[in-house]
Amino acid sequence: MANLSRRAVLAGLAASLLPRATAAQPSSLGAIADARGVWFGSAIGEEIFADPAYAAAIARECRMVTIENAVKLGFIRPEPDRFTPEMADRLVLWAGEKHLAIRGHTLVWNDNNPDWLKRMSGREVARLMDAHIAETAGRYAGLIQSWDVVNEPFYPGFGLPGGYRDGPFFAAMGKDYIARAFHAARAADPIAKLTLNEAFTEEDTDLGRRVRAGLLGLVDDLLDAGVPLQGIGLQGHLKPHLPYDDQAFGKFLAALAERKLPILITELDVSDEGFSGDQAAVDRAVAARYRQFLTTCMAEPAVKGVITWQLSDRYSWYRGDWYKNAQRRDHIHRLRPARPLPLDDRLRPKAAWAAIAAAFEGRGL
Ligand code: XIL
Repeated sequence: MANLSRRAVLAGLAASLLPRATAAQPSSLGAIADARGVWFGSAIGEEIFADPAYAAAIARECRMVTIENAVKLGFIRPEPDRFTPEMADRLVLWAGEKHLAIRGHTLVWNDNNPDWLKRMSGREVARLMDAHIAETAGRYAGLIQSWDVVNEPFYPGFGLPGGYRDGPFFAAMGKDYIARAFHAARAADPIAKLTLNEAFTEEDTDLGRRVRAGLLGLVDDLLDAGVPLQGIGLQGHLKPHLPYDDQAFGKFLAALAERKLPILITELDVSDEGFSGDQAAVDRAVAARYRQFLTTCMAEPAVKGVITWQLSDRYSWYRGDWYKNAQRRDHIHRLRPARPLPLDDRLRPKAAWAAIAAAFEGRGL
């Protein structure tokens, strides 16, 4: 990035690290979370450049943003030799100008990869991983508060020993790809906190329990081996139609906290597909789940931040093409558009907004 731009972003990053009393409006979720000593933020993408009102809502409510897609392998590298960081650059600059801390998501993920990666040999995949981390994390070095270095290391459904997620990186290097990716990220960016991001851990299902156990073991192994792991991201795509056990999840948070790592809830939203009734009833049910879940999270001091996966229902990934395609594949038919986020289609705060605020303020259930 040009020096000038880098200065603008650095100024933003510096501001985001100062005592955080002035930047956001007093009534924003960012300010309310900050009073509790935690971050609040949202995933962002190119929609903020097409919708100034939404951009203003993000800037008002958030202290932190996650780059939703623009630095993922298939977006920033549509072909092996073509690096297209323009959108990521714009998002990083925008966030810097707004004094928002930035999370990079994600350097290595065994899912959602471009087809060209799947055609490479194991040796080529390993080389590509090192070069990709060096170039991507290196480009934004000093500008990123935390990097999800590895996303979703576990998915026991693949049947691999240890419950690891299969994919090009695992096939090429086995589970060692994880430690290697963290070392490469550290070499490329000495400043960013390096985090491991995982899905499903809040479910009280066989899947959730196995991923939790796998993750605790992996964290121990990485720390024992001196790998620069500095934080844990738990996605939190809550699905109220699946079993959930507050106590079990609270215990898991406490077990992670014993490892002395900060925890972020990185992709929070509440699926409303299992709720019936009119819109107000659905919104209330979504809000109740936010409040219950975040009350448990706030009871654990190691939880240092909460980031929702978008901020307004209008831009929820549950309304996006990726999800529509997945639903088509799985023959799922939705009767109404999803309402999983704190702001509605017209950017008005919903019951979920108040529920999130209440949890941050310690007004429990
Ligand atoms: C999703 C994005 O929101 C979609 O726009 C994209 O098409 C697919 O990926 N877990 C993750 C995120 O870690 O990267 C995913 O984001 C949602 C699930």
